[in-house]
Amino acid sequence: MNTKLNGTFGKFGGTYLPEGLAAILNELAEKYAELKASQAFQEELKELYKNYAGRPSLLYFAERLTAELGGAKIYLKREDLNHTGAHKINNVIGQGLVAKALGKKKLIAETGAGQHGVATATIAAYLNMDCDIYMGVRDINAQKPNVYRMKSLGARVVPVSDGQGTLKDAVDVALVNYAQDSVNSYYLLGSAVGPHPYPTMVRDFQQIIGEEIKEQILAKEGKLPQAVIACAGGGSNALGAFTAFIPDENVELVSVEPAGLGAETGKHGLALGTGKADTIHGYKTLVLQDDEGNIKESYSAASGLDYPGISPILSMLKENGRLTLGEATDKEAVDALLNLSRLEGIIPALETAHAVAYLFQAHGKYQNPDQVVVINLSGRGDKDVENVFENLL
Ligand SMILES: Cc1ncc(COP(=O)(O)O)c(C=O)c1O
Repeated sequence: MNTKLNGTFGKFGGTYLPEGLAAILNELAEKYAELKASQAFQEELKELYKNYAGRPSLLYFAERLTAELGGAKIYLKREDLNHTGAHKINNVIGQGLVAKALGKKKLIAETGAGQHGVATATIAAYLNMDCDIYMGVRDINAQKPNVYRMKSLGARVVPVSDGQGTLKDAVDVALVNYAQDSVNSYYLLGSAVGPHPYPTMVRDFQQIIGEEIKEQILAKEGKLPQAVIACAGGGSNALGAFTAFIPDENVELVSVEPAGLGAETGKHGLALGTGKADTIHGYKTLVLQDDEGNIKESYSAASGLDYPGISPILSMLKENGRLTLGEATDKEAVDALLNLSRLEGIIPALETAHAVAYLFQAHGKYQNPDQVVVINLSGRGDKDVENVFENLL
């Protein structure tokens, strides 16, 4: 098989689907390759990044956080300031344009934290398309404000009560429904996961984050950062921030996964940290497994990180030794959410707070005041504050 065409990343990625769906995705892969090379498509994308999403997002020097930690200068890449409040808008703009080019009338998506659901509902409104968002019932309870936002935008929110009622179950049900209506519908995947061409497409639409960081940090500090730190659920904000820095071997790329109730409890989402190569949702990657080799349920208080798989691109980078793996528990993430809020007046999403928590752990790293560290602030925490105060403190 031609590795370029089937979207493999080392031994990960690829397409593991029944023939019918595989043929649809092949068509999508071909269309995307054509659009990627089209100047008109790239110009429309740039125009919407700028005038709809509000890019470039700020690179903000977090002075009080830096003083508190007492070492390297900490910068925050403010993806939370994008329209709809997270990095997810970058991807839906790109895939929305792909769906339009394919002549589709409806967008179908899954969501965990609701940020991708809100972003998809937003671009569906902008493009005048119908929109169905599949969401686990547990996540619907934890992320109520985002459910109302999706409904306000005209989307149908379809509750999924199968399994644990979380992201994996929402993907399962959304895929079944998509397979039944693939002529009219476009499946808008929210992270750099799934069969080819999704990981490539999502990585491409998010890599603007790292490209901007590079330009902004060189302008402000005249040098590249010592590290770029991002949380990883499926891996889209991490790959968005990392991709431009992959060739810069002195820049540490830190991917922080959810340790949930603690790695030792088994209730976590450490796919890169503890997973084994397996197939899930039509692609091969590192996946949580139980002792019998079955896919194990993940757990995190952060709905957007509660997924047993991970991007095949991150799995490959891990195997190649290019990633530093971090982890943060629910409690560390809640503490980090409150710490950042009180030090900088910026409330991060609970997902994002995992990346912030990494800096509060005593690694003995990043002590040099001449160095610079960037955290990708993937989203804002308005959606989380009720859950934090009602259930997590
Ligand atoms: C703000 C925010 N950050 C991070 C994530 C995790 O997704 P990914 O790993 O694809 O960036 C989510 C998912 O919902 C999110 O809403």
